[in-house]
Amino acid sequence: MTGNAHPLLVVRDLCVSFPARGRMIPIVEHVSFTLHEAEILGLVGESGSGKSVTVMALMGLIDMPGVQVSGSARFRGRELVGMPQKHLRQLRGRDIAMIFQDPMTAFTPVYTIGWQIDEQIRAHERVSRRQARARTIRLLGDMGVPDPERTAQRYPHQLSGGLRQRAMIAMALSCNPTLLIADEPTTALDVTVQAQILDLIRSLRATHGSSVLLITHDMGVVAQTCDTTLVLYSGRIAETGPTADVFSAPGHPYTAALLASIPPLYGPRPHRLPAIAGMPPAPQDRPRGCAFGPRCNHVHESCRIAPPPLVAVSPGQEAACVLPAEGHPLPPRMPSTLTTGEMMGRGP
Ligand SMILES: Nc1ncnc2c1ncn2[C@@H]1O[C@H](COP(=O)(O)OP(=O)(O)OP(=O)(O)O)[C@@H](O)[C@H]1O
Ligand code: SF4
Ligand SMILES: [Mg+2]
Repeated sequence: MTGNAHPLLVVRDLCVSFPARGRMIPIVEHVSFTLHEAEILGLVGESGSGKSVTVMALMGLIDMPGVQVSGSARFRGRELVGMPQKHLRQLRGRDIAMIFQDPMTAFTPVYTIGWQIDEQIRAHERVSRRQARARTIRLLGDMGVPDPERTAQRYPHQLSGGLRQRAMIAMALSCNPTLLIADEPTTALDVTVQAQILDLIRSLRATHGSSVLLITHDMGVVAQTCDTTLVLYSGRIAETGPTADVFSAPGHPYTAALLASIPPLYGPRPHRLPAIAGMPPAPQDRPRGCAFGPRCNHVHESCRIAPPPLVAVSPGQEAACVLPAEGHPLPPRMPSTLTTGEMMGRGP
């Protein structure tokens, strides 16, 4: 992180609700975070936790009638929530690049991959078509695309999913964005290519001072890449803080469980890793209290009253629940009289 005092992106109290069967279902609730210049922030959580919806909402990309987005997301002081699409499009083209989970959405089917990356470069810089193509080929090569010259001449549908993903990342990096939002950029890629791409994302920060919002479900990727970690569970923040602190002393039982379920970065790989039992609740079935309650080993009766608010764990680190530490007794376990149904808010 640089010493720049002005954050690049300040998100406060972001809430997103989707309409379903005549009512509004809260998908993302009260998400707040700050992204500084040249910072890499990892947004992590299991499938369905609201990672994509969070960034799609703040970029004005949820194309669905009736969706409600509230709160604030200020990019260099400019409010993104409610910003007219025309202005959002300008920002997306000029300052903010996105790598989508589905690479097909990034490309137009009727032009070659190379043409589309060339155009992206030429939209930002005064370079000739020949210079732009040379850069496109270099970028594709950096992504580990074999025979980049020929690949540049192919259409999106002619490429495999993995190649399309790498071409999309090349296009996103081609304009040296101020902010890169990367939604699962390395899923479906083999580990060598994944490492190469994470290196390129880090070097974008080093060479251009870019900030990155990296969405992933892979805590290993977060550990190696991100300065700051934000853990989402069922649309709410479970924990956030400097990656080193969150990983060395997680406050929230969910963060601790996620960390226990990844292989160690160094040393021998254990034969079996503990998985988190059960599934996150569907947004319409969230329990009344803590959404992690039905899967939590430390659950107790007060957990079902209301979603717990974030509390400080250490400087810069906050969690919606703090695991017992030295001097703090273990919270009582859920008494056997309390059923899962009751925990889910369906009880008496
Ligand atoms: N268009 C939609 N209509 C209704 N529900 C949706 C829509 N898009 C997402 N959701 C719901 O919102 C919740 C959050 O979805 P989201 O795609 O943000 O999860 P995610 O954390 O990105 O998961 P993944 O790791 O699988 O990409 C999920 O329960 C999902 O079913
Ligand atoms: S102890 Fe309670 S509040 Fe904390 S994570 Fe478990 S269920 Fe949630
Ligand atoms: Mg997603």
